Amino acid sequence: MGGILVTGVCGRLGASLFEFLSSREGEVRAVSRKGLDLSGKAEVSKHLSAFRPDLIFHTAAMTDVDSCECDPGRAWRDNLEATRNLAEAAAALKARLIHFSTDYVFDGQKLSPYIELDSPNPLSVYGKTKLAAERAVSSLLENYVIIRVAWLFGVKGDFVSFVKGEIAQGRSPRLATDHQGSPGYIPDLLAPIYEIARSGVIGIFHLTNNGDCTRFEMGKEIIRILGSRVEPIPSTGAEIGFIASRPRQSVLSCRKYEESFGHTLRSWQEALRAYLKNTG
Ligand SMILES: NC(=O)c1ccc[n+]([C@@H]2O[C@H](COP(=O)([O-])OP(=O)(O)OC[C@H]3O[C@@H](n4cnc5c(N)ncnc54)[C@H](OP(=O)(O)O)[C@@H]3O)[C@@H](O)[C@H]2O)c1
Repeated sequence: MGGILVTGVCGRLGASLFEFLSSREGEVRAVSRKGLDLSGKAEVSKHLSAFRPDLIFHTAAMTDVDSCECDPGRAWRDNLEATRNLAEAAAALKARLIHFSTDYVFDGQKLSPYIELDSPNPLSVYGKTKLAAERAVSSLLENYVIIRVAWLFGVKGDFVSFVKGEIAQGRSPRLATDHQGSPGYIPDLLAPIYEIARSGVIGIFHLTNNGDCTRFEMGKEIIRILGSRVEPIPSTGAEIGFIASRPRQSVLSCRKYEESFGHTLRSWQEALRAYLKNTG
């Protein structure tokens, strides 16, 4: 068996995934932008031909939705061109590519959770670049999985840390009420990602914790669990100052994963309780 490559190792999901895989697999290597900028086609090809991984987890992306809106050139480079370079190099090596994507490929018009077969229609530059990357992966490779995740939490610098920081300062955070989504607790996603990767499945899978909420509801739950008296301020994205349009609802149905692998992830509330218990 060849090695495993993880991109985006300085990022939230990439760092956790690298640690998880390193304790289970023999040869796991990780790259960050400093070691390999994936937007350089020749460098990507050279790096992959030297290491010859047979499994690649591609978590690297430009993920700040508002920054993507302000700097679309960089967003297309980091999200589409980088993915295309990696997918081409993976195809040449016949490596399996596990690519990560987002609920923001949808426009939020659907009244029920999105399934993998629903037609995407992204509203933002971020969503457009991520959808184009999905299409590059599925057209360049036969052996691939696209895992759409959403609202990642469970590591430093996440939404939970933001709310905790506001509470610590005695401030009432403004939290959005006009977007319904599905939180994903990174430690809960790692084993399912590994399971998907090591199975022979091909195609798109949605993967989040069970249940959905608005950021306001999630913030209220954090504050309730922590026993704080701070009251968050219900706000619209426009009032908070979001630049990019977000889908009104982008709840992901994980039924395909559940039926394919026989288990359901716990609720986001249970995951949140576990996270807050661990981090204090
Ligand atoms: N975070 C979420 O809530 C969320 C939600 C839905 C989907 N996702 C998807 O899940 C995946 C992981 O997200 P994440 O939150 O873990 O990302 P993250 O924390 O923002 O980390 C992404 C990493 O990728 C690196 N990167 C970007 N462009 C690169 C390039 N051209 N070459 C090399 N490295 C590059 C970044 O480096 P720099 O810092 O130097 O740019 C950063 O370290 C992404 O595909 C994202 O679209 C995330």
